[in-house]
Amino acid sequence: MTEGRAALLLEPGAPAVIEDIYLEDPGPNEVLVKIVASGVCHTDLTVKNLNGNGMPFPIYLGHEGAGYVERVGPGVVDLKPGDPVVIAYRAPCGRCPSCRRGDPRRCYAALRPSPKIHRKKDDALVSQVLRCGTFGTHTVVHEKAAIKMPENMPLDRACLLACGVCTGVGAAMNTTPVAPGSRVAVIGCGGVGLSVIQGARLQNASMVIGVDISPVKLEWAKKFGATHVVDARDGDPVAAVRALTDDGWDGGVEYSFEATGIPKCIDQAVQMLAYGGTATTIGFPSQTDRIDLSLGDMAIGVYWNKAGLRVCHCGDTLPTLDFPLLANLYLQGKLDLDSMVTNRIALEDVEPAFHAMEEGNVIRSVIMF
Ligand SMILES: NC(=O)c1ccc[n+]([C@@H]2O[C@H](COP(=O)([O-])OP(=O)(O)OC[C@H]3O[C@@H](n4cnc5c(N)ncnc54)[C@H](O)[C@@H]3O)[C@@H](O)[C@H]2O)c1
Ligand SMILES: [Zn+2]
Ligand SMILES: [Zn+2]
Repeated sequence: MTEGRAALLLEPGAPAVIEDIYLEDPGPNEVLVKIVASGVCHTDLTVKNLNGNGMPFPIYLGHEGAGYVERVGPGVVDLKPGDPVVIAYRAPCGRCPSCRRGDPRRCYAALRPSPKIHRKKDDALVSQVLRCGTFGTHTVVHEKAAIKMPENMPLDRACLLACGVCTGVGAAMNTTPVAPGSRVAVIGCGGVGLSVIQGARLQNASMVIGVDISPVKLEWAKKFGATHVVDARDGDPVAAVRALTDDGWDGGVEYSFEATGIPKCIDQAVQMLAYGGTATTIGFPSQTDRIDLSLGDMAIGVYWNKAGLRVCHCGDTLPTLDFPLLANLYLQGKLDLDSMVTNRIALEDVEPAFHAMEEGNVIRSVIMF
């Protein structure tokens, strides 16, 4: 048994609180990880705002974690205590139809540990957000969800690979691979959107247009590789993107990415496409969110514009391949993770970090243990 502390949601509408926890020893093919750093992703805030989104309380928040393996369960051969790891929330199951046809990037059912993390005061089992739980000192995950990092990879930056970065970069590399020389727009330049911008740059897009409502985010967008920016408060971002891409053929981008979680931004992403382009939605919807797309408008309708719409889950990441690949891009100076960490905070500061995210003046707060 291992004792620790974690930020838990105890009931709908309540702020996260720090409580003592204990973890049973890892079971077969599981590992216990001592967390060193965890990024605060908007999805944790969304889980809180959606009152747990169906998960039983108490809920152990956090899914962007890195740390050291502390204990391994029976049958674990590839990891040992002391190994530095990043935790993957979509480790492919190997059994679903996608995995069986050799397409683990589109696995239906990620591997999960059996529940063994308890609140100390009443032994209640906690639900681990996205099978992780990283806003705390320790967690237990499936061995295949703990991805070994190069020894020289700093873990307070490696943690960002677990969600925001692998989702954003992966959206542009795996979900909807951006063709070299093409035009790209990214709506929402937070942790995920700025990573899409980096992915589009790595894919050699000719134009990368960042769209946001926050001037500081637009400045950051330029720093991470946007060639142009659009402030969506200044008017219709669709018209602005079409004007920037005017080529005598109505303009538009070959690829648009939505990274806000706001339905109208998905509509905008579709409307700003050039003929035959593809919009990719990344933001996390609530159960009742809907969009109303035009089919028949001659300029922007899905039919006449031959528009495609894709959904990105975690950048269609294959963690065993992509996490080390992204870490190496960082170590080679090609992927900027340093500038993404705008705040290093204590576990007690989770709620202020959520507020800062709502205010829009952080890229990532990283909880340090
Ligand atoms: N699909 C996935 O696998 C996946 C993974 C991670 C995060 N997400 C989701 O992606 C979204 C973004 O996450 P994040 O961590 O980058 O959040 P974030 O809060 O850091 O960024 C959101 C950005 O959207 C901007 N924005 C808000 N309203 C806007 C508007 N009308 N037009 C343009 N920009 C606007 C904000 O200013 C902010 O910069 C969230 O919904 C999150 O839950 C999905
Ligand atoms: Zn699978
Ligand atoms: Zn996330």
